[in-house]
Amino acid sequence: MLSRSAVSSCLALLLTVLPTAALSVMGGGDVAFAPKGVGKVVFKHEYHVTVKGNTCANCHDKTFQMRGEASLYKMDMAILTKGQFCGICHNGIRAFDVKDEKNCKRCHKE
Ligand code: HEC
Ligand code: HEC
Ligand code: HEC
Repeated sequence: MLSRSAVSSCLALLLTVLPTAALSVMGGGDVAFAPKGVGKVVFKHEYHVTVKGNTCANCHDKTFQMRGEASLYKMDMAILTKGQFCGICHNGIRAFDVKDEKNCKRCHKE
């Protein structure tokens, strides 16, 4: 059992840390996917939310959960190309197309 004072100092710490964290991280922050045999993909909330004016509800929770485990998603290019997950927008109409060879490196780094 934690002592009462330990609990309240934890609470005090949380209350000071949380507002700062909320300001510095937009939505879920950067989420990295590490598929095998190809460069990793970093999804940036800051870009998708502020620059493109998407609301959280455009993606959560219909398409993506907020559980914080990118590995929950079984994504591969066959699925993305069929217009699911990232492919809902990255279809050459709303955003650059996952099928176009010129775009692979815009998502897959090094
Ligand atoms: C363009 C789509 C999109 C939008 C818009 C979006 N998210 Fe996300 N979000 C994702 C994806 C993709 C993931 C990764 C899936 C996962 O980690 O479970 C994610 C994950 C998260 C996570 C878990 C973070 C982690 O470490 O994995 C949180 C929290 C979150 N989002 C909050 C938000 C909030 C709050 C907003 C609105 C300000 C928002 N998201 C808008 C796509 C989006
Ligand atoms: C709700 C629509 C939507 C969804 C879902 C979405 N995107 Fe995007 N994304 C956009 C738009 C719009 C742009 C900017 C348009 C363009 O450049 O063609 C963009 C730009 C990007 C960029 C370039 C900017 C940057 O961050 O460097 C990357 C990379 C990217 N998206 C990755 C992803 C990945 C990975 C997923 C899935 C986990 C995803 N997106 C899901 C709408 C979306
Ligand atoms: C909009 C971003 C985006 C674009 C553009 C994109 N990918 Fe992907 N790719 C992903 C994501 C997200 C995953 C799944 C990551 C995970 O969950 O492990 C993935 C997975 C993969 C995989 C491993 C799974 C599989 O399908 O075999 C390969 C290989 C791959 N991509 C190749 C490509 C090639 C080649 C291109 C260009 C024709 C491309 N990708 C364009 C986002 C993108």
